[in-house]
Amino acid sequence: MADLAVLYDRIRPDEKMLFEALDDLGVPYDKVYTPQLKVTFDEQGRAGVPWKVAIERCVSQSRGHGVTRALEGFGVKVINPAHVIELCGDKLATNAALHAHGLPTPRTGVAFDGDTALQLIEDMGYPVVLKPTVGSWGRMVSRLNDRAAAEAVIEHKEVLGGPQHGIFYVQELINKPGRDIRAFVVGGTCIGAIYRTSEHWITNTARGAKASNCPVTPEIADLAQKAAAAVQGQIVAIDLVEDPGAQNEWGGLKIIEINHTMEFKNSVATTGVNIPRLMGEYAISLL
Ligand SMILES: Nc1ncnc2c1ncn2[C@@H]1O[C@H](COP(=O)(O)OP(=O)(O)O)[C@@H](O)[C@H]1O
Ligand SMILES: [Mg+2]
Repeated sequence: MADLAVLYDRIRPDEKMLFEALDDLGVPYDKVYTPQLKVTFDEQGRAGVPWKVAIERCVSQSRGHGVTRALEGFGVKVINPAHVIELCGDKLATNAALHAHGLPTPRTGVAFDGDTALQLIEDMGYPVVLKPTVGSWGRMVSRLNDRAAAEAVIEHKEVLGGPQHGIFYVQELINKPGRDIRAFVVGGTCIGAIYRTSEHWITNTARGAKASNCPVTPEIADLAQKAAAAVQGQIVAIDLVEDPGAQNEWGGLKIIEINHTMEFKNSVATTGVNIPRLMGEYAISLL
């Protein structure tokens, strides 16, 4: 049993790269397959949780949050901590935290009922983006160009939706230049960034966008680091958009979201930055 653990539920290329980086660093660590992990809050449980630091890499957000909470009960320092997962795993919570810290996001509104959501959208003006507060890979991120589209999506959410769909999270559509920016922050430092370029307005690489190196300007570094600090994220990826119509101290950059279990497989060769090694070194620094 080692002092360091990597908590996972599926080995993606990202986890493989992280394991290789930890092997290279020569640090002993345990690979913990969380679907088979049992934790009891007693002496026996303590024996089963020997780690001091853990890197949480679960694909399932609820599983990652649960295992983090459980391990924190035994004093394990989990990267990222449960309170960070709670903020980053929920776009509304993230936006509220960023707003409280005076950091720029696309103009955003939220409503808790379909009729009120339609009024909110009409007030904001088309086009708008309606997206689930919990989600990833661009799923259900919806562009609404007119009232008919807004009514249709709102009705679908109301009729089909579970509790999640009772929250209507609405943003102005930023007229970004065919790309957005993902900036990686490890231990408070922006270590690299990529452009994600696509013909489609949704620029997730999971949806086919192309990754290329994005030089880390002072504005990108400063905004990404402040965003990470606002949610106390230790290892996070910040999605940024360039808003040509906006002026702020970051050259018009705005924060779209913060990812707490960041994917980086497309970004190592692209940026030339050994992201998994820096993640490993950061985890070791907490031991
Ligand atoms: N307000 C917006 N204006 C312009 N593009 C947006 C906006 N919101 C999201 N997008 C595009 O959709 C993508 C996915 O949105 P995001 O909020 O990051 O959700 P997910 O968690 O599914 O990645 C972003 O990377 C961006 O390309
Ligand atoms: Mg995103």
